[in-house]
Amino acid sequence: MLNNYQLVSIILASVLVVYLFNYKQQKPKAIKQKLDSRTGLVTPIKDFEWNRAEPLKSLPFKKGPYKLTMGIKRLDLQDWLLIEPGYLQRLTDKKNIINNSHPDYPQGKDLRGSTFFVTQEAHSAICELYDIVMDYMSTKYPTCFEIDDKRLNVKNLITQKTYPLHSKALNDPVVLQEYLAETIEEDFIILLKDPKRENEENGKEYFFKAGVFAFAAGFNPKERFNKPLTYIHHPVPQYETKLKTSMNRYFSRMVPGQFITRSNWSIQTHNKLYTDDSNKGHNLPKGYTQHAIDYNSVDFSQVHYRSERQVLTKLPKTQAIVFTIRTYLLPLAEIKKESREVRERLIGAIEGFTPDISAYKRADEWGSAVCQYLRE
Ligand SMILES: *[C@@H]1O[C@H](CO)[C@@H](O)[C@H](O)[C@H]1NC(C)=O
Ligand SMILES: *[C@@H]1O[C@H](CO)[C@@H](O)[C@H](O)[C@H]1NC(C)=O
Repeated sequence: MLNNYQLVSIILASVLVVYLFNYKQQKPKAIKQKLDSRTGLVTPIKDFEWNRAEPLKSLPFKKGPYKLTMGIKRLDLQDWLLIEPGYLQRLTDKKNIINNSHPDYPQGKDLRGSTFFVTQEAHSAICELYDIVMDYMSTKYPTCFEIDDKRLNVKNLITQKTYPLHSKALNDPVVLQEYLAETIEEDFIILLKDPKRENEENGKEYFFKAGVFAFAAGFNPKERFNKPLTYIHHPVPQYETKLKTSMNRYFSRMVPGQFITRSNWSIQTHNKLYTDDSNKGHNLPKGYTQHAIDYNSVDFSQVHYRSERQVLTKLPKTQAIVFTIRTYLLPLAEIKKESREVRERLIGAIEGFTPDISAYKRADEWGSAVCQYLRE
């Protein structure tokens, strides 16, 4: 006969086996719920001084032959939206770009129409994003955002403007996006599936349905608006052959609460934040041959290093995919001040461009002059 002790042991062991079995059987749903709850876990940076923060160094170039890869990494929720010392100036530039009043662009150029996008289908996703962003910024940066006692409004202590904390107080997608654009430095785009358009080419993909994209690097965002993902990347060389399938698979499998990041970089010979007609070789007239610019004729104070830090997440309620894009634009002289390792890595990356990428980035023109400058 078993004594009590043995009996209890057997019962406990059985419970453990059943528990482990169920644990292994857990469907992705349970994991998904766990990740959802992670969205609440941003940590306040208590003594944050926004104009003294150390800006991130976005130097994602690699030495050697160019390879188009997804190049994605997981990111902590904590590192999603950033405030750095350039915040106020960048918000001012953005407001002027999206309001057609930036001095860098000719009067009459409709930048607003090229940078600010809303659709009816995206209304709920805009509300959801608004609530998440306001909560995120005010939780993470309590020294920059002040919530009133009733928890109805939030004041941005850097710009001195006050906004509703919850989208339901406004419910106007245009105004909500305006406020989002004034609160975060990052550009953002909202992607949704569009069941009505499934029969179109690439129609089962996510579509660009809303957002504010003020800092375009060599294309007019308007041409991508309301288009599927594949078109959004058009005409990145090798995208369709090398990346399209894995990108789409990745997007469909993304789980709310996950954050993913990728960064890219380029060089431009001017200081403009929004550019739809230069930077990229495909904007040049047909048959145009790019010629290497003469090193001695270059005004290097105008040459800038540009990097984009993209972060991707899926919203729990509407399942919208949100891209935030943070743009760094630095005089090349700043990169030249970096360590020798950084300079050599950049030179190695430029020299490693394949001909299609070199033409796409217009490096046939600036490549050798920039390398010479970095080597000096
Ligand atoms: C932007 O333009 C809109 C409409 O033209 C105007 O109502 C708004 O006040 C402008 N915003 C700023 C900050 O100038
Ligand atoms: C980064 O990649 C996007 C496409 O994902 C492209 O539109 C953009 O121009 C690139 N930016 C730079 C700085 O190369």
